Amino acid sequence: MPEASDVQRGLEDVVALESRICFIDGRQGRLIYQGYDIRDLAARSTFEEVAYLLWYGRLPSAQQLADLKSRLSELRALPDPLARQIDALPADATPMDILRTAVSALALLEPEETKPGASSIGGAQRLTAVLPTILGHFHRRRAGKPALRPRPELSAAAYLVYALLDREPTELEAKVVDVCLILHADHELNASTFAARVTASTLSDLYSAVTSAIGTLKGPLHGGANERVMELLAEIQSVDRVEEVVKGKLARHERIMGFGHRVYKVEDPRATILREWSRRMGEEEGNLHYYELLRKVEEVVHREKGLYPNVDLYSGSVYSLLGIPPDLFTPIFAASRVAGWTAHVLEEYQDLRLIRPTAKYVGAIDLTYVPVGQRS
Ligand code: CMC
Repeated sequence: MPEASDVQRGLEDVVALESRICFIDGRQGRLIYQGYDIRDLAARSTFEEVAYLLWYGRLPSAQQLADLKSRLSELRALPDPLARQIDALPADATPMDILRTAVSALALLEPEETKPGASSIGGAQRLTAVLPTILGHFHRRRAGKPALRPRPELSAAAYLVYALLDREPTELEAKVVDVCLILHADHELNASTFAARVTASTLSDLYSAVTSAIGTLKGPLHGGANERVMELLAEIQSVDRVEEVVKGKLARHERIMGFGHRVYKVEDPRATILREWSRRMGEEEGNLHYYELLRKVEEVVHREKGLYPNVDLYSGSVYSLLGIPPDLFTPIFAASRVAGWTAHVLEEYQDLRLIRPTAKYVGAIDLTYVPVGQRS
């Protein structure tokens, strides 16, 4: 029987499995995908190449990359029954709920893709290709606009912007979105990836695993934090109010979104990269408002609480400058992390052991059952 001291609340520091996909050095602030440093990948790679790397464990040849890009482009279209289902859902639903429901519904329409095992790579590619289309379809529908046709010639990053905003991004915008997709693509056993692996470890299917993961990413302590960062900035309004608002929140023991991390004890390297892109985007747009507010928030939170920024601090500022509404920030995170979720599910199928931890029972025992009519 486990002792009280054996209970690792939140499974902190519990090593649950072996994986080759992603390594986080929380003390050095390093993030590695399949051996490659995130800083190199963000500077020199593309989301499609990173997805290949996560799925296959190596960088693709030029031909392999071209094949993957054309495969992902082919897989962008929504089946008509799914489009109709999305149209029948409440227009005021959150896009995260739509995404979760749509992936679950897609499993019914594509049962072959959902089978557990090595063949799930087809489903992994399908989900990675189609998530932006689901989001774009719903986003346009709630604005009363007709669906757009998928544009196979666009890169994953450019297609995401096009699907959401009905315009092609500038070169800088396409690069910054690509960087965001690369940075969010995987992060070891974060809560949503763990949820996906738990689901897969029962030999359930890939689409069910991704449905679990989307539901898990949605929470504000995980993917939902980026949206809340922008709410904080809206509340703060100007640099001279940062001290007052942030200190007030800390005094009330409220969490400041976009700060702190279970694994990183220093700055999240993704925050370092995104800070720079937030500044560049702000300069390009002639609008450094978000960047300046965030720099000041960082200063105050670090001074008062010793906390470092995480990936969610700057992503919302970049998306806002692009003109993307806040309730699409976490879904964009999902549209990237789906590459990592599916890579982990594939790995789970290859080395499967049911994930089933145990709990220390702290409830009553040996109570005497009293029939309902005799209870007071
Ligand atoms: N604001 C204020 N205090 C904080 C914060 C924060 N953002 N993060 C941690 N703390 C404090 C917390 O109150 C606690 O203090 P005390 O010991 O005095 O009670 C201490 O730091 C330890 O916190 P914890 O909750 O035990 O740490 P954890 O490892 O369970 O939490 C976390 C990690 C990410 C949930 C947490 O830092 C947090 O809530 N951050 C805000 C939400 C956020 O930005 N989430 C995105 C995470 S990165 C992207 C992703 O994974 O999705």
